[in-house]
Amino acid sequence: MAWFNLKKSKVLLRPDFEHLPAHVAFIMDGNGRWAKKRRLPRSAGHQKGAQVFRDMVRYCKDIGIKYMTVYAFSTENWKRPQQEVDSIMDLLRSYLKDAFDYREEEVRVKILGDKAPLAPDIIALIDKLEADSAQYDKMILNIALNYGGRAEIMQAVQQIAGEVAAGRLTPEQVDETVLEEHLYTAGQPDPDLIIRPSGEQRLSNFLMWQSAYSELVFMDVLWPDFRRHHLDRALLEYQNRNRRFGGV
Ligand code: IPE
Ligand code: IPE
Ligand code: MG
Repeated sequence: MAWFNLKKSKVLLRPDFEHLPAHVAFIMDGNGRWAKKRRLPRSAGHQKGAQVFRDMVRYCKDIGIKYMTVYAFSTENWKRPQQEVDSIMDLLRSYLKDAFDYREEEVRVKILGDKAPLAPDIIALIDKLEADSAQYDKMILNIALNYGGRAEIMQAVQQIAGEVAAGRLTPEQVDETVLEEHLYTAGQPDPDLIIRPSGEQRLSNFLMWQSAYSELVFMDVLWPDFRRHHLDRALLEYQNRNRRFGGV
């Protein structure tokens, strides 16, 4: 990690909580390895990971993050053994049912991804939670579920092509704004910071469009071991970087 930046006059030694990034995204990775290290079934890693997720939601909201996005299940994760997929879906069920938590915390929950292939009871829980929490605005929590960045762009392109075919849009009118309006994240700012624990250094099809100018922080900790001080460290790293967006 770069702890200082020569181009900046001031090097922060602790995060400045008055100037936090608006949108922080997490690739919650490393559950399986965490379990393996303890000779536990992979499902135990997911269970611990779900606890960490809950605490991180609370922390992000408390420090004043406005948008939080987590990668919970990718379009590629269906390749895993059925038993593991089932255990993840069960954790999801219990989380979605626990709607009282969000009401208490004034967090608006949105699911990013294609809901159609999910079990009907999960779809119903999602619809209820999205509707129930729609009145809250303290923080928007996006849960990427059956999410793939390429699939997201594809479905946007299909919808736009349909509108062009129907004569509601001309090809020239299709610009970045139109495309963004058809993404799952429509109306939200792009992530400023994407954090990936577990030691892997890749995006794995997460927010392919939205990550164009995101700062990426890769950390060696496994997600079930991720704690508030790890987020503080990532925020500090972010604040000591120099975002240029192509300018000088
Ligand atoms: C992330 O942890 C959780 C999901 C992808 C659902 P992993 O299960 O990928 O953990 P590792 O990468 O195998 O350690
Ligand atoms: C990315 O992790 C998806 C989630 C964290 C939900 P993976 O474990 O699926 O990614 P790869 O396979 O290491 O790229
Ligand atoms: Mg993984």
